[in-house]
Amino acid sequence: MVEHFLDVDGVPDSSSGARTMKPVKILGIETSCDETAVSFIEVNEESETVKILGNTVHSQIDIHAQYGGVFPILAKREHQINLIPVLVKTLTEAGDFARTETKVKINETEIDQILKNESELLPHFKKFISNTKKPDVDYIAVTVGPGLEPALWVGINFARALSHVWNIPIVPCNHMEGHVLTALIEKEKAGDYKLLDKKISYPALSLLISGGHTQIVLVEKIGNYKIVGETRDDAVGECFDKIARTLGLPYPGGPIISKLAREAREKGITSPEPLPRPMIKSNDMDFSFSGLKTSVLYLTQRLKEKNVPLDNTMVSGIAREAEDAITDVIVAKMKKAVEKFAVETIVIGGGVIANTNIREHLEKLATECSIKILLPQFDHSTDNGLMIALAGYFNKSKAVGFDIHLKAVGTLPIGPRI
Ligand code: KG4
Ligand code: ZN
Repeated sequence: MVEHFLDVDGVPDSSSGARTMKPVKILGIETSCDETAVSFIEVNEESETVKILGNTVHSQIDIHAQYGGVFPILAKREHQINLIPVLVKTLTEAGDFARTETKVKINETEIDQILKNESELLPHFKKFISNTKKPDVDYIAVTVGPGLEPALWVGINFARALSHVWNIPIVPCNHMEGHVLTALIEKEKAGDYKLLDKKISYPALSLLISGGHTQIVLVEKIGNYKIVGETRDDAVGECFDKIARTLGLPYPGGPIISKLAREAREKGITSPEPLPRPMIKSNDMDFSFSGLKTSVLYLTQRLKEKNVPLDNTMVSGIAREAEDAITDVIVAKMKKAVEKFAVETIVIGGGVIANTNIREHLEKLATECSIKILLPQFDHSTDNGLMIALAGYFNKSKAVGFDIHLKAVGTLPIGPRI
C-alpha cells in the first residue's frame, strides 16, 4: 500500500512529452496544544514555491483562560469538536484546488475502530465523510509530538481515519521542526511563497521559543537537527504566561505583556526595581527562566508589604522590565551561538517570536553580526497547520499507511542534544 502511495510525485506529464513534476498537495493537521488547525498547501518543486490554499486555526484560548493555562483533557475534547469544522473551512477556502469527483467507500467498522478513543469526534466524522467527495490531496501530515499527548492523539487518529477513507498516506511530523520550517517561506508579490531551504547556507542556527520549548538548534540541513542549548526549567513562553498570572493578567501572557511593555516604553514608565537576566553570563547556550518568574513574584510581594498598589502603571513597568530581561538573555545566548558555530543564517520559530521587541532585537543582532535572519510571518508565529503541512512536505519520504502504528510522543525531541 505504501509503495502505491509514494509514486504521487515526479509523475511525468505525458501530454507535453516533457518531464514536469506534478505539484504536491499536503493537508497539515495540528492539535498538539490549544490550537485546532488544518492547512492545505501545494508545493511546486520546479518553481520552489508554495501556495497556501486553505489555512484555518481555531484557538481554544477563551476556554483555557479561566484555568490560567492549558487543561489537557479539555483540549482533547475541544479538538474532537473542532476538527471537522476546521477541516471543512480549509477545504472550502481551497475550492477547486481541493475538489475531485471521487466518491468515498466507507467501512464503518474500521472507522469505529480507528476513532474508538475519540468518541466525540466519531459522529461528526461519519457525517462529514458520508457527505464529502475525496479531496485532491497527496499527503496528510500530522503532529505526533512534542505536545500534550491526549491532544496529539486526537489529531493522529483523525489523520488515520481520513487516510483510511481517502486512501492517502500519512506523514508523522515533529511540531518543533514545523516551527523551524515556517520561517523558510517568504511571501512573493503574487501571493505565493518562495521556498528558501535551498537559498541558505548550512549549518544554520535555529532559535525555537514557544510555550513548551526554548532551544537553540544547529540545523545541519533540513531534517538533521542538533540541540546545542535549551532551557533547564521553564520555557520562555511559559515564563511570559506565569509572570502575567502573577501580575493579574490573563492567559496567554505573552501578547498582553508585550502590549503593556510597548505602552510603558512609549510613556517612559519603568519598573520600580530591575529584574535578573538569568544565566546571561554562563559559558553555554542554556537558559533558565523559572527564577525570573519568582523574582517578579517577590517584587509584587514587596510592593504589597509597602502598600504600593499594583495598578496599571506599575504592571506596565514590570511587564516592560520582564520583557527586556527575557530579550537580553535570548539575544546574548544567540550571539554566543552565532559566534561559536560561525553560521551565516539564523532561523527563528515558535509562538514567542510574535513578540515585536524580541523580533527587533534579533534583527539588530543579525545586522551587527552581518548574518541573515529568517523570521516567520507574524501571523504564522503561533501554532498553525501550515507549519505541519510544510513539515509533511519535507518528510514525505517517511509517509506511512493508516494501518502503520503511530504514537503520540509528548516529549519527542527535534534531535539529539550535543
Ligand atoms: O508555539 P506556540 O503557539 O505554542 C507552543 O508550541 O507552545 O507558543 C505559545 C506561546 C505562549 O506561551 C504565548 O504566551 C507566547 O507563545 N506568545 C508570546 C506572544 N504571542 C504568543 N510571547 C511573547 N510575546 C508575544 N507577542
Ligand atoms: Zn508551537
